[in-house]
Amino acid sequence: MALHDDRKEYVKGSLDDRWLNADPMTQFAAWLEEYLASGADDATAFALSTVSAEGQPDARIVLLKELRGRDLVFFTNYASKKGRDLAKNPSAHALFFWPSLERQVRICGLVRRIPAHESDAYFASRPLGSQWGAVASSQSQPITSRADMEVQWAKVQQANPNGVARPKHWGGYALSVDRIEFWQGRASRLHDRIQFNLSANDTWTAQRLQP
Ligand SMILES: Cc1cc2nc3c(=O)[nH]c(=O)nc-3n(C[C@H](O)[C@H](O)[C@H](O)COP(=O)(O)O)c2cc1C
Repeated sequence: MALHDDRKEYVKGSLDDRWLNADPMTQFAAWLEEYLASGADDATAFALSTVSAEGQPDARIVLLKELRGRDLVFFTNYASKKGRDLAKNPSAHALFFWPSLERQVRICGLVRRIPAHESDAYFASRPLGSQWGAVASSQSQPITSRADMEVQWAKVQQANPNGVARPKHWGGYALSVDRIEFWQGRASRLHDRIQFNLSANDTWTAQRLQP
């Protein structure tokens, strides 16, 4: 198929200029709820971009597990590639793409670890298989084979049949939003974009951007 013939018109919604005075986190929560209600698969997934100490960007999908005020909370392995990037450079980007609603949300902010007791509580709520997996996997490290990985996992399972304590290398991060842009596809590529920036006095300023 010729990719340059793959075109569509975006017609499902619009962004009202009255939003320019709104709280963007309330708006984000409303959009997320709407996408969740649509029954989309992995509706909480977003692309998390980090930048290494050498200035090289990297991105991967993670799941949003909580929205708390300005904070987006997600969980991962602190020793993973993303964890190592964040330890050197806490600036990160979260990108949500909600195709059935023709929406995109771009978010920038600083990331910090959430308190250990909160990670403990979330870890304990996970299915046993996921708990064993978090202990067994040195995320982002090479391993010789799938079979070796399964042996590692089975050892953890056998040693901890009723669950396991959260390993110190696994836990939550909170991305504190300081810029957020809402994008709604429109006809003829005249898309709506409204960007909010957090000012020094913790208030939001908003502007409409050209598509
Ligand atoms: C739908 C989906 C959800 C995912 N959710 C998470 C997650 O919540 N946390 C996580 O550490 N990895 C998650 N992953 C795996 C990551 O994309 C990635 O492979 C892994 O975190 C290692 O990334 P890194 O080597 O850049 O640290 C998910 C992948 C997909 C496709």
